[in-house]
Amino acid sequence: MRSLNVALDERAYDIHIGSGLIDRGDLYASVLKRKRAVVISNDVVAPLYASRVLDALDRAGVAHQLVVLPDGEAHKDWPTLNLIFDALLGARVERSTTLIALGGGVIGDMVGFAAATYQRGVPFIQVPTTLLAQVDSSVGGKTAINHPLGKNMIGAFHQPRLVLADTATLDTLPERELKAGLAEVIKYGLIRDREFFDWLEVNMPRLLAREPDALSHAIERSCRNKAEVVIEDETETGVRATLNLGHTFGHAIETGLGYGEWLHGEAVASGTLMAVELSRRLGWLNDDDVARIRDIHASAGLLFAGPRLGVERYLELMSHDKKVDAGKLRLVLLKRIGEAVIHGDAPLSDIAAAIEHCCAHA
Ligand code: NAD
Ligand code: GLY
Repeated sequence: MRSLNVALDERAYDIHIGSGLIDRGDLYASVLKRKRAVVISNDVVAPLYASRVLDALDRAGVAHQLVVLPDGEAHKDWPTLNLIFDALLGARVERSTTLIALGGGVIGDMVGFAAATYQRGVPFIQVPTTLLAQVDSSVGGKTAINHPLGKNMIGAFHQPRLVLADTATLDTLPERELKAGLAEVIKYGLIRDREFFDWLEVNMPRLLAREPDALSHAIERSCRNKAEVVIEDETETGVRATLNLGHTFGHAIETGLGYGEWLHGEAVASGTLMAVELSRRLGWLNDDDVARIRDIHASAGLLFAGPRLGVERYLELMSHDKKVDAGKLRLVLLKRIGEAVIHGDAPLSDIAAAIEHCCAHA
């Protein structure tokens, strides 16, 4: 087991990474205030893994119940969130009970938001079962649901008490989901960890082949990068925004196409290539870096043309971004591989040209 700590003073917590961790009742029990937990999952993940989590809680003497939600990004919404509150209130769940999010980023974000708001806040544990959730969404305390006008627009910061990333759960993850998770892995190399980017260039085939050592290394390195950023800027007043490389474009793709049409990681990959093209037009990224970034996306199966929503529609959707300040669009761009900047002065004509370029070319 590899372990990291997200050192946020009284909100500090451990991230454990390893095979078989969902069976470790002692790990769940170690952070519980009272020996009571509600496991919340979806109708894809629960049949695969919920009974193992419940058995582990039994062995640790933890009373529990299970709530199963409909699967998918299209259900990351108010009606589905309310199903959690219905179950918690129906069972008279008290504030000392811990919620356990078992699933990918959709479950993690929704259960986290439920935990942030149920009776003004209850503890929760993240048990991420997708690569994307293990490298990104389970760490850092961003919780949210989508709104028809914008992705992740309703939410709260609420840190988990523990993250248990069981790498063996990735065995059942569909290929397309594995690749989508790689988009967020590549992101860390691009924004702040050039050495990791170099490693990814060599080891991408091992990750696609799900070699346990390679996956564990990539998950640990990603979590370490994310934890360092979150410790420095927990509520995104500055550097944390760089974790959103490609997301302003990507969220426009997800909202514009309808939630769930493209996977989040696919939209982030496409959005990253738009940010890269814009960075090139601003004279920052050189041709060699651009070629390496395109190549690494290609090797992860993530190089495709952006959906043709029309530039006006992209810009309209991007104007809802959470980084917009005083009406001004602020974008995460790259100075070079390993160095991101937040930039509010890119000419609209260059932004439009970058979008058009990436919608026309894979
Ligand atoms: P997801 O949660 O929809 O999971 C992808 C699919 O895989 C789902 O159908 C899920 O049921 C299934 N699945 C999950 N684990 C499985 C397993 N082990 N075996 C088989 N199937 C499995 O998608 P995701 O990519 O994990 O997460 C995307 C979401 O995360 C988006 O809503 C995005 O906004 C959010 N996100 C949040 C943050 C954050 O900081 N909070 C960061 C990045 C992304
Ligand atoms: N995924 C972006 C963040 O956690 O800040």
